[in-house]
Amino acid sequence: MPGRCGLTDLSVKIGKIKFKNPVLVASGTFGYGEEYSEFFDLNKLGGVITKSITLNPREGNPPPRTCETPSGMLNAIGLANVGVSEFIKEKLSFLKKLDTRLIINVAGSTLEEYVKVVKRLNRIKGIDMLEINISCPNVKQGGMHFGATEESAHQIIKTIRENTSYPLMVKLSPNVTDITQIALAVQEAGCDAISLINTLIGMAIDSETRKPLLANITGGLSGPAIKPVALAMVWKVAQKVNIPIVGIGGIMNTKDVLEFLLAGASMIQVGTANFVDPKVTVKIIDELKDYCENHKIKSIKEIIGKLETQSIS
Ligand SMILES: Cc1cc2nc3c(=O)[nH]c(=O)nc-3n(C[C@H](O)[C@H](O)[C@H](O)COP(=O)(O)O)c2cc1C
Repeated sequence: MPGRCGLTDLSVKIGKIKFKNPVLVASGTFGYGEEYSEFFDLNKLGGVITKSITLNPREGNPPPRTCETPSGMLNAIGLANVGVSEFIKEKLSFLKKLDTRLIINVAGSTLEEYVKVVKRLNRIKGIDMLEINISCPNVKQGGMHFGATEESAHQIIKTIRENTSYPLMVKLSPNVTDITQIALAVQEAGCDAISLINTLIGMAIDSETRKPLLANITGGLSGPAIKPVALAMVWKVAQKVNIPIVGIGGIMNTKDVLEFLLAGASMIQVGTANFVDPKVTVKIIDELKDYCENHKIKSIKEIIGKLETQSIS
């Protein structure tokens, strides 16, 4: 079978951290990792990203908190998680044993909360990077508000930078006027990579009952419906920043991954697609190898940012 002989180099780097391939799983769509271990060998992934971890346990929003939409889904989970102490005690030991990169996604309602969580995670062996979620649309306090202006985004990332030595990836919201300005602000504040996009604010209504389909009324739209938006934002941000970009949004298959890499992403995250097919990421990794071999590409890095914008007609 072509592409399985291991000649192709799928590895990529963010700062000093080397990933065996560019495929990560998106926060909140892969639980704490263990939930997916019955489906495939998680060591094949470039890395695992946990759901957002907050200081205290959170139950999240009341149900219903997900619904299907054309070419996508809405969710208003509201950062349900066990809290950082329970996470360290109960969830981390499984993740630390994996032979893949481990990224902990951190969220909070206040700047102080982010800092406390980050400090609790400091000096834990086995954690490779933090992803700072300043883009959750489904919480009343904090979340997306931190990522909404250049000033607040800069302030929170600068403060977190001062309180941890872990490499930092900052996850941006598409629900802003100009995402490139927020990207420049967090780069200036000292982050090592930028991931984008989180979900777009959306809503669904049942015209018979005259009620919203989500108890939270609005939610975050994800899945194939948002891919064109995500691609455009990745491409725009790639023109401005000089740190690696991690592309997210509607990635369902290998072709989608290649599009994000061409647009300038060094890595990608697969989210909603995990719910459709829990093994989709391993299929993508195998197919990326096939693609590279069939196109005589020695290293996947060769195609990052290689979108040809000249003479498209
Ligand atoms: C059910 C669900 C839960 C999510 N929870 C989180 C979360 O806890 N933290 C976070 O940063 N992003 C969260 N996200 C956003 C995803 O990580 C991702 O940015 C978004 O879904 C877009 O990617 P996709 O279209 O591939 O799903 C969640 C998305 C979904 C669908």
